[in-house]
Parts: sequence; structure tokens; C-alpha cells
Amino acid sequence: MAITTCIFDAYGTLFDVAAAARDAAAEPGGEALGAIWPRLAEDWRRKQLEYSWLRAVMRRHIDFWSVTRDALDWAMEAAGLDDPDLRERLLALYRELAAYPEVPEMLSALKAARLNTAILSNGSPEMLQGAVASAGIGALLDDVLSVESVGIFKPDARVYELVTTRFGCRRDEVLFVSSNGWDAAGAAAYGFVTAWVNRAGLPADRLDAAPQHVLSNLAEISEIAKR
Ligand code: LAC
Repeated sequence: MAITTCIFDAYGTLFDVAAAARDAAAEPGGEALGAIWPRLAEDWRRKQLEYSWLRAVMRRHIDFWSVTRDALDWAMEAAGLDDPDLRERLLALYRELAAYPEVPEMLSALKAARLNTAILSNGSPEMLQGAVASAGIGALLDDVLSVESVGIFKPDARVYELVTTRFGCRRDEVLFVSSNGWDAAGAAAYGFVTAWVNRAGLPADRLDAAPQHVLSNLAEISEIAKR
């Protein structure tokens, strides 16, 4: 079945989640982050994901912005940082994360090939709109789908179902792209054709459902989608 619809995870896939801590460390006032920003960024991301999965299992959903704040509070405390101004600055930077450099050209190529394009993310609608606007990619996306409309986080199948409902397409017409191995596994288990963008060179997740494509960045996505 030919691909008609390309769906992207947001954080880590289109937007560089380490950019907030990296940029804050380089600003006046961010000196305390100095050499520890990579550890802070990693703890922040890991706790953000853990809290999303745990809340899904516990059936205690709150939106991803609240999860992101809670995770930052954990990461800052673990790093011995008690600095409300730095916390606010990190959160402000997270609302306007940079897109990876190859993103605009890749999305333009998909639109030129008349494919549907959208984000499917755990992010709340407000935080996703902020990131899309600051990256300047809104005109290249047909939609921005948030888990908030089903009230549970990925990899619950109800989230992936938002795509087939929105675009009226079959699962095997969808190319789902994520840099998160667990998300690629969730999407593959749902029946999407899946590309895992393994930017960090990590081992494959052992979750039964393997992605069909493993890439190091997004540059090849339009070629795969047009095959
Ligand atoms: C997302 C996170 C999980 O955008 O990367 O859904």
C-alpha cells in the first residue's frame, strides 16, 4: 500500500529537547548549569517520559506541560539547583524549542509530493502550537494532533487511532516517524509503517514490534514516503 500520510512525533523527533538546557547554560544567569546541562537535560527528559507512562498506568492523567514542569523540578532538585528564575527560563525555552535543521526541507518535500503531514504528540495543544510557531513550520503541516483529545499518553493505541480517524486512512498508508524507540514500537504494533530516527545511536528497544526503517536523521524520510 502506498504511503499517503506522514506523521511525526514532536519532542526529540522534530524539536531538539536538549536545546532548552543547552541554551540556558550559555546565557547570563545560566552559569550554574555550566558543565552539568547535559545531565539536567537527560534527567528532565527521562522523568518526563516516565511520568507520562506511569500516569497512563495509574490512570491519573494530567497534561504534558504539567508533566514537563514536574520532571524539571525533579531534575533540578537532583542537580542541587534551587533557582526559580532559572526554572522559569528553562520552561520558557522549552516552549520555543528549535526544530532540527533538516525539518523544513523534509516537510516541504512531503508537501510537494502531495502527502498529508501532521504531528502526533503527547504535548498539550498550547505547547505544540508554541513550538510549531517558533520553528516556522505551521504552513507545512495539515494538522497538529495532541493526546489531550483522548486523555492518555502514547503508546496507548487510542492515541495512534487519532491519525486514522483524522485522515480517514488505513494504518498501512501511514508512515509514522519517531526518534523514540518505544514510540516507534507502539506505532509499529498499531500497524503503521514506522521509521525510527535513532539520532543517538541507541540499541533497539525490545518491545516485540520493530520499526521497518532505522535512520540517523530525517533527511531520507521523503524518499521512503514516496517509494
Ligand atoms: C511526543 C514526545 C513523547 O512528542 O516525544 O509525543
